[in-house]
Amino acid sequence: MAINSIRNAAQLAGKIKTPPSNPSEAPDPVKILYGVKNPPPFTEGNIFPLEWEVKTPKLMQIYDSARDPGWAPNRLPWDTLDPEAFTLDQRYALAYWWSLLSVFDSSGPAVFARAMIHTYETHEEDPVRKCFFSVTRDEVNHEEICQRAIQKLTPGGPLGYEPQTPLGKLARNNVLWYYHNGGRYWEGFKRGVGKYPLAILFTSFLMGEVAAATLFHGMYQRTTIPAFKEAFRCVGKDEARHMGICLAVLDRLLPQLTDEMRAQITKQLRAGYIFLSGILYQPPEQFWELPDTWRPAHGILEDVAREAGLGVLSDEERRENWRAAVLKMKGLLEPHGVAFPAIPEIGIDGETVAFDPDDIIPVF
Ligand SMILES: [Fe+2]
Ligand SMILES: [Fe+2]
Repeated sequence: MAINSIRNAAQLAGKIKTPPSNPSEAPDPVKILYGVKNPPPFTEGNIFPLEWEVKTPKLMQIYDSARDPGWAPNRLPWDTLDPEAFTLDQRYALAYWWSLLSVFDSSGPAVFARAMIHTYETHEEDPVRKCFFSVTRDEVNHEEICQRAIQKLTPGGPLGYEPQTPLGKLARNNVLWYYHNGGRYWEGFKRGVGKYPLAILFTSFLMGEVAAATLFHGMYQRTTIPAFKEAFRCVGKDEARHMGICLAVLDRLLPQLTDEMRAQITKQLRAGYIFLSGILYQPPEQFWELPDTWRPAHGILEDVAREAGLGVLSDEERRENWRAAVLKMKGLLEPHGVAFPAIPEIGIDGETVAFDPDDIIPVF
């Protein structure tokens, strides 16, 4: 009753229009069209309007092949990984390596999610946005591999597990320092990701993917631990696909580089090398803030993990693998006028460039 009397009063006051009872009295769309106005211009960085443009059909094919990666972290043979089969120090050393890896692979989800939002804001073609989504999903899986390996060997680890031996305590301290550096990387990445055009971002990502594919391929061949072997195989397959995504995008973008972009890429390749060497090789001092105890402890932990069957390559083998991977990047970029940076650590000549932590973009 009360609602009806409010409506009647409103109608009398002319505030509510009664719909016409006769269809012929309905407003004509053409008449309405005369009054049409457009909204204000869309602001820069707005994710709207949404469009589904495809400039690189090959990317769409890669995305289709990535819809189902064909494996899942919970379906790996974790039940074959028996912590009791290892000594305490071996367990700590194995969990230690997965914790170091997690500084790279566990930054993947947030780093790629951030990059994916960036591609919406900059209205990149649809398959670029979709591929970022699939890489983000893959990185969540890679993070989970680190999580499961660490939890199985040192429940609650790496930080919530109380190690019983001096080596275990050194491992935990080393991991803390890596997380400290991982945090610094993330701060730099957040500043950098919105600043660079796609060609620069993808060249940096490619460096990360090349590094990841190289690492997992080598460890897949070398490890004697079945659960890890399967993990390295599956993650390595994903990384090869990530490389394919980067290459498909760069195929289109590298011929369009400006001189300024080329110079920036040279700097970023050097920065990428410095960051990624933290897992591929040895962490260079230019970026990695580490205490004096870090390197000697790391050497022992790697030896113990190697003896336990993890599949860590020798320093010499890693140096060679890294060099071969970086030379592939060089072969791809130099024809497009990009000067390669000098990487004397692995015997690569090139331009000497200054290092700025904000130039680091790579993920894994
Ligand atoms: Fe990757
Ligand atoms: Fe990854």
